[in-house]
Amino acid sequence: EGDDVLQPRPPVVTVMGHVDHGKTRLLDAIRKADVGGGEAGGITQHIGAYQVHTQHEGVDRALTFIDTPGHEAFTAMRARGAQVTDIAILVVAADDGIMPQTIEALNHAQSAGVPVVVAVNKIDKEGASPDKVRQQLTEFGLVSEDWGGDTMFVDVSAKNNIGITELLDAVLLTADAGLDLRANPDKDARGVAIEAKLDKGRGAVATVLIQSGTLRVGDAIVAGTAYGRVRAMHDENGEAVLEALPSRPVQVQGLSSVPRAGDNFIVTSEDRTARQIAEKREAAERNAMLAKARKRISLEEFT
Ligand code: GTP
Ligand code: NA
Ligand code: MG
Repeated sequence: EGDDVLQPRPPVVTVMGHVDHGKTRLLDAIRKADVGGGEAGGITQHIGAYQVHTQHEGVDRALTFIDTPGHEAFTAMRARGAQVTDIAILVVAADDGIMPQTIEALNHAQSAGVPVVVAVNKIDKEGASPDKVRQQLTEFGLVSEDWGGDTMFVDVSAKNNIGITELLDAVLLTADAGLDLRANPDKDARGVAIEAKLDKGRGAVATVLIQSGTLRVGDAIVAGTAYGRVRAMHDENGEAVLEALPSRPVQVQGLSSVPRAGDNFIVTSEDRTARQIAEKREAAERNAMLAKARKRISLEEFT
């Protein structure tokens, strides 16, 4: 692709870390800090991904957060070949320090080649030791910038909303320093299903992340073995939208079935093509399952 067609896109950020170190609370605090408006009162309908805006060096900037239940989901998505994250925020509680899943999460991010920003959380707590966290992580190759390294550490309290803007600044600085985040919006959309469910009234509802191109209401899409025309799209505030640009997460209605987290989606020129691709995939999956079952049965005959 020529450079001229590539437009800047917001970074896509995943929050990872040990259980109970404050990932969910931090995501809540980040959503409340959204200067883009959105909902008042801070009651969030659960959606697997959302975009927030912040003032960064005097400029309005958007960031997309993927709200996964943890690095299992990250691993599952990667296993399906989906690489959705540009930057990982590694949350470490300053009272606990690093724990087994902290290192697991870090390993996942590092093996995916994703830069890490450390959020040292719960600094409001008695016994919090942010320096200890910095010290511990040096052994795993993360050296704080204030200690001469190149990893940004930000002390935060998700509970008391301390350090949230600074954390968003650190993420954007990391993105601007090391990543070329651009995509072509002027073509058919491609992306990844982040999560999906069957809704009683609305049918299959999938949260998808656009990675390139623009997705529009009326487009024919195929996601894994699900297909259909985009009947409606909603943003993280439940507002109907007609189109979605790169790095934007949206809830999509109109699919024939529920895709899996990590399924890639593409737009096809015709409904028929989407259905044919989906049916081919389904047949291939069925055959693979049958072959597996046959193998198991023939093995059992010998034992
Ligand atoms: P899992 O999803 O179960 O892995 O946990 P999590 O990392 O999402 O942690 P969560 O946000 O659920 O927070 C765990 C507990 O820590 C909750 O009781 C939070 O209220 C509390 N907590 C989170 N952040 C802070 C903080 O900055 N300060 C204090 N004092 N408590 C916090
Ligand atoms: Na928890
Ligand atoms: Mg959580």
